[in-house]
Amino acid sequence: MDLDRHITAFTDFADGHLTGEKSRDYYILLKREHSLRVLDNGREIVENETVPAHEAELAILASLYHDIGRFPQFARYGTYKDADSLNHGRMGVLAMRTLDLPDDVAEAEWRLIRATVGLHNAKSINPATRGCLRTMVNVVRDADKIDIFNVILDHLGDRDNPRKEVILSLEEHPTRYSGHVYEAVLSGLPCDYRTLRYSNDFILMLIGWIRDLSYETSKTLLYRRGLVDKAFFLLPADDRIKALEDRAHAYLSA
Ligand SMILES: [Fe+2]
Repeated sequence: MDLDRHITAFTDFADGHLTGEKSRDYYILLKREHSLRVLDNGREIVENETVPAHEAELAILASLYHDIGRFPQFARYGTYKDADSLNHGRMGVLAMRTLDLPDDVAEAEWRLIRATVGLHNAKSINPATRGCLRTMVNVVRDADKIDIFNVILDHLGDRDNPRKEVILSLEEHPTRYSGHVYEAVLSGLPCDYRTLRYSNDFILMLIGWIRDLSYETSKTLLYRRGLVDKAFFLLPADDRIKALEDRAHAYLSA
């Protein structure tokens, strides 16, 4: 498999959605660059974990293509909110069926890659999903989460950033966050994007993802890049957040 050919095919497809209108193109480039960083994260995970070579290769490809549905989603609906448009994982599967992609991947392998694209943003994964597909899904979901941490915290760290669509236009308030989101994260329950109200809720949801990571390498990457500390730094400094921070650190150092 020639990864460079796939990167070219992917970036050509992404760039085909550029319009020349700066404010729209910002969002296309955001997802293009995100996908390339997720590819790097996926590579770093499989290189540091005991992933069989063939599964590793497919996981890396799926990392690159995981968000391919974002481009038609933004072109058609002008948003990255699945709730206001369509599920971007499913849109990605549809896009990949019609695209002319490099021919060095067998159809059975494309099927696994498309399945991973379709599952990368599922709220939870059926425990019956095993084998190569399970590995691919686990790698892509971890690689994706690490970069979503990066993108969101980077955006929120720059309070003047006008690109509100990055944080799904959530309300920014220095001290407010939703009790139900906090409780869900504290109890290890999944959060749904649709229940978020404040930008702090988004940060809390990210913190909740730490427990969902499949690989030790992913936890190390998050920690080493300072993303856990940055998340807590951006949240209000109250006792409840402090309790959550202590718990997160205990989990990560266990
Ligand atoms: Fe995605």
